[in-house]
Amino acid sequence: MQTLTTTSLRIRKSQLWILDQQALPQRTDWHLCRSVEDLVGHIHALRVRGAPLIGLSASLLLAQLAEAGMPVPELHQALDTLRESRPTAVNLMNNLDRMKIALEERFHIPAMVQEAERLVGEDRELCDRIARHGAELVTPGSRLLTHCNTGGLATAGVGTALGVIHHAHQQGNVSQVWVDETRPLLQGGRLTAWELGQMNIPYRLIADSMAASLMAKKQIDAVWVGADRIAANGDVANKIGTYSLAVLAKYHGIPFYVAAPHTTLDPHCPNGDAIPIEQRAAKEITGVSGSFGEVQWAPQDAQVYNPAFDVTPAALITAWVLDSGSFTTPAGAFGL
Ligand code: MRU
Repeated sequence: MQTLTTTSLRIRKSQLWILDQQALPQRTDWHLCRSVEDLVGHIHALRVRGAPLIGLSASLLLAQLAEAGMPVPELHQALDTLRESRPTAVNLMNNLDRMKIALEERFHIPAMVQEAERLVGEDRELCDRIARHGAELVTPGSRLLTHCNTGGLATAGVGTALGVIHHAHQQGNVSQVWVDETRPLLQGGRLTAWELGQMNIPYRLIADSMAASLMAKKQIDAVWVGADRIAANGDVANKIGTYSLAVLAKYHGIPFYVAAPHTTLDPHCPNGDAIPIEQRAAKEITGVSGSFGEVQWAPQDAQVYNPAFDVTPAALITAWVLDSGSFTTPAGAFGL
C-alpha cells in the first residue's frame, strides 16, 4: 500500500497506524494495528471513532491483511468480524460492501488495496463538498453549536459538520463555536475543542445541559451535527444528546443542520426505529476514564442506561447537508 496520512490514520511500509482518540488531547499516541482483534479493540474503546473513520480503518486493515498474504476465506471471516464491530454507523457496512466486491475479484490483492485507497481519497473529497455546501448556509457573524466530534479526526478530510464550520470560518462568517462537551465520553470536550484550537477558531466549551439557556439568551444562531446513519425517511442517528439539541432548536426557532457524506445514507432502513443503537458499558456513566486516569463517582452497584446514540426525527431537521448539496426534504437527500 502507498504511504498515506490523515489526521488519525497512517499507512507506513504497508502497516496501519491509528491515533489514539481516547488519549487526546493530553497525549498523542499512535498504535500499530496488526490484526482484526487489534482494530476491533480500538473501535470498542473509541480509540478509533467517528462513522467515516471506522469504515476507512476497517477497509485499510483488510487491504493490509490481504497484502500480507492472508488467505481468502480468512479475509471473508475478517470482513464479517469487522462488520459487527459498531452496529450504528452505516459507513462501516457501506465501505465493507465495496471491499467485499474487491475481495471477490480474481486478483483480489491489488483490487482490495486500490479500493481501500480509493475510499480514503473519496472521503476527503466528500468532506470538501459538504464543507462548501454547508458554508453557504452560514450567515455572517454566526455563533454555532456543535455536538460530539465530526472533524478531521473522524474522517479522512476536513470533517463533516466541523468541516462546514471550518470553511465558514475561513470565509469570515463564524464569530464563535459553542462546543457541547458530549457526555458520557466527552468527544466534544476532548476532541472538538482540541481540533478547533488547532484551527484557531474561537470556541467555548459547555456542559451539554447548558445549551437550552444559551438558546433562550439568543446566543446560538444554528446547530450543526454529524450523523452515524440517515434512514430513508430522514431520521438521523447520531451521538446521544443530538435529539435533545434538535428539540431545543425547534422550540427556540433555531436552524438544525445535519452534515454527512452519502456513505451515511441507508435507503434500506425505513426509519429511525429500525436503526440499531449500540448499548455501552455502565462504567462510562458511573465514572470517567482517559489518559488522565479513571474515576468512579456512582455507587458500585448503580444500575445504568447507556445508549451510544439517539435518533432525531426528520421533522426536527432544517436541512440534510450532503456532498451532493443541501436538502430540506429526505426525498431530496436520497435523490428521489
Ligand atoms: O461514538 P462516536 O464518537 O464514534 O460518535 C461519533 C458521532 O456521533 C459523529 O457525529 C458521527 O460519527 C459523524 S463523524 C463525522
